[in-house]
Amino acid sequence: MRILLIGSGGREHALAWKLSQSTHASRIFVAPGNGGTAALPDCCNVPIETDDLPELLRFARKSAIDLTVVGPEVPLVSGLADQFAVEGLHVFGPTAAAAKLEGSKAFSKAFLQRNAIPTAWARTFTDFETAADFATGLDSLPVIKASGLAAGKGVLLPETGDDIADQLRALMVERRFGDAGNTILIEERLFGPELSVLAFCDGKDFRLMPAAQDHKRLLDGDFGPNTGGMGAFAPSPLASPELLTEVERTVMRPALAAMNAEGAAYQGILYAGLILTETGPKVLEFNCRFGDPEAQVILPLLDCDLLEVMTACVHGRLAGCALGWSSESAVTVVMASRGYPEAYETGKLVTGLPSGELGEDGAFAFHAGTRLGTADPHRDQVVTNGGRVLSVTATGATLDEAAAGAYRIVDGIRFDGAVWRTDIGQDSSLGQ
Ligand code: AMP
Ligand code: GLY
Repeated sequence: MRILLIGSGGREHALAWKLSQSTHASRIFVAPGNGGTAALPDCCNVPIETDDLPELLRFARKSAIDLTVVGPEVPLVSGLADQFAVEGLHVFGPTAAAAKLEGSKAFSKAFLQRNAIPTAWARTFTDFETAADFATGLDSLPVIKASGLAAGKGVLLPETGDDIADQLRALMVERRFGDAGNTILIEERLFGPELSVLAFCDGKDFRLMPAAQDHKRLLDGDFGPNTGGMGAFAPSPLASPELLTEVERTVMRPALAAMNAEGAAYQGILYAGLILTETGPKVLEFNCRFGDPEAQVILPLLDCDLLEVMTACVHGRLAGCALGWSSESAVTVVMASRGYPEAYETGKLVTGLPSGELGEDGAFAFHAGTRLGTADPHRDQVVTNGGRVLSVTATGATLDEAAAGAYRIVDGIRFDGAVWRTDIGQDSSLGQ
């Protein structure tokens, strides 16, 4: 099969690596890819941006692509799967109507409420004055969320009563995230550890993956600003079989049944961001794709052919598909550029990467923000090209062994201004 994989991060390097192991994969094109995907066998980068739907469609048609796999949310929310379907092209990932579970937090919240899926209470507003009146009159501090996509930055946690109006003004009046803040949610603040539970879905059936946890804060001990994720581990010690059964019963099964009943059958990855409260797991958000860096710990644990699983999802045949998971644990440590998540420099030479395709057995240096240098002095060498540069994963019999393996690789890698957390995988009580 000829595959088009869309995206350029650590998640996409992990997807390309796992897909390239499939006996059914003949060629994998990655748009636009990174320095890691460029080096995988049978893989090649194509210079098309992830939001250039007309060009992606033209490429898929011209290159006789059998399956398109979408890494990030934006193309899905913009209707990539719908546009490809019109041309008879298969896509692993939801339609625009189904991807609204991530694309519109207002839609998602109303969906959760009308289907009695446990979540924080929330109210939706489109007018600044009304929102500010409501939020400042509450007995406790709420959470403020832009309804639309804001690259993971649209959730604000006011620390004082005064912050509330300032943050609402930034979203609704100053339009910090543009149209994403036209509608906002004021939501009950919940407390507890957070857990990412992802499922492969074929429209009717689903299969859970090992539950993961990610470390969102920049600094050790969960301090500093929020980031796209500084590391992750799976399976989470919090995810007991009982808890996962409860998540299936109260979240995944009703969500898929309701999407089906509402005419937007859900095919692809459904990612439930959960908070484990004293009264049970509640949904903080849905995402319509793999997490980054969750994919970099989940995919190394998948003990079967990812392409077969994705194809089964696309054709509604997940029920007959046996998924295997390793009994090991995986930890990924993100190495970022100094300055991230704010401004950072790029073009720094990366040395000390493990030799071979990705590294030694059970360890993988997934590339995120890298590219191959095109000019001297770094021609054809790996240079930094983003905030999150590498996502170094190792598997092991325990989380501690996996973390030790990942840090062994990290310790050998150098680039100017590299920053990383030293405590990834050590604390499963992550959360508020
Ligand atoms: P979201 O994009 O909705 O998952 O929100 C990003 C992060 O904000 C979450 O991972 C939580 O840490 C935090 N958050 C979101 N909603 C809530 C909530 N209702 N209560 C407490 N924290 C929240
Ligand atoms: N790691 C969080 C996300 O991918 O949304």
